[in-house]
Amino acid sequence: MNVPKHVAIIMDGNGRWATLRGKKRSEGHLEGSKTLEKLALHAVDMGVKVLSVYAFSTDNFKRSQEEVDYLMNLLVKYFNTKFEKINKKGIKVVVSGRKDNLREDVLKAIKDIEEKTKDNNVGILNICFNYGGQEEIIDGAIKLAKDINEGLDIKNFKREDFYKYLYHSLPPIDLLIRTGGEQRVSNFMLYQMSYSEFYFTNTYFPDFGKSEFNKALFNYENRDRRFGGINEQENK
Ligand code: FPP
Repeated sequence: MNVPKHVAIIMDGNGRWATLRGKKRSEGHLEGSKTLEKLALHAVDMGVKVLSVYAFSTDNFKRSQEEVDYLMNLLVKYFNTKFEKINKKGIKVVVSGRKDNLREDVLKAIKDIEEKTKDNNVGILNICFNYGGQEEIIDGAIKLAKDINEGLDIKNFKREDFYKYLYHSLPPIDLLIRTGGEQRVSNFMLYQMSYSEFYFTNTYFPDFGKSEFNKALFNYENRDRRFGGINEQENK
């Protein structure tokens, strides 16, 4: 099977999942976090090396204080207690995003989980939190400018060389999944998705379990990725 090395998920639809069941939006996020844990464990079993997920965007601060607090608390609780299985499985957890605007306990939970899992090498779970794709490119450009100031020669600087200036230097995304029915990228990993295959589904994220994930992988297997070239087989 041709397995995508880097899969990214825009985990949308938690709120609607909850509303449909007469529950509070926060219950949708809680259910979504359980789905995330299952998928992270399952993805490495399927041979995926990096799983990136959009847990909180820089723009999510526009939501009610109650919802913002809930998501912050959920992250802290999850990192402190529930990520044991992920650690035992050998998954390295990294968190991508800006660190300003985050509470002290959130920063500590992030630091602790990254430290605890840093030597794991079975797979990487990249949790994008207080994250924006344009912000990541700006932050990278600032780091590059510093290096140039310090004498870096950019005469032969190629697009591949910029990855090391992005958060955690992760590879390009092969497959981007968005749950919840919308078809947009919402300022997610813009640099890394330049040649990704997209998979959109109406399923709300809490219901996007292992079999739904496998469906996306099977769908990816049949894609003809040409990276701007032509398929030699088809054109003979
Ligand atoms: C989008 O659904 C989802 C989010 C903004 C949050 C996603 C967070 C999780 C799945 C849990 C994250 C886990 C940790 C460890 C923090 P939405 O609220 O926009 O749904 P809607 O479009 O139906 O309103």
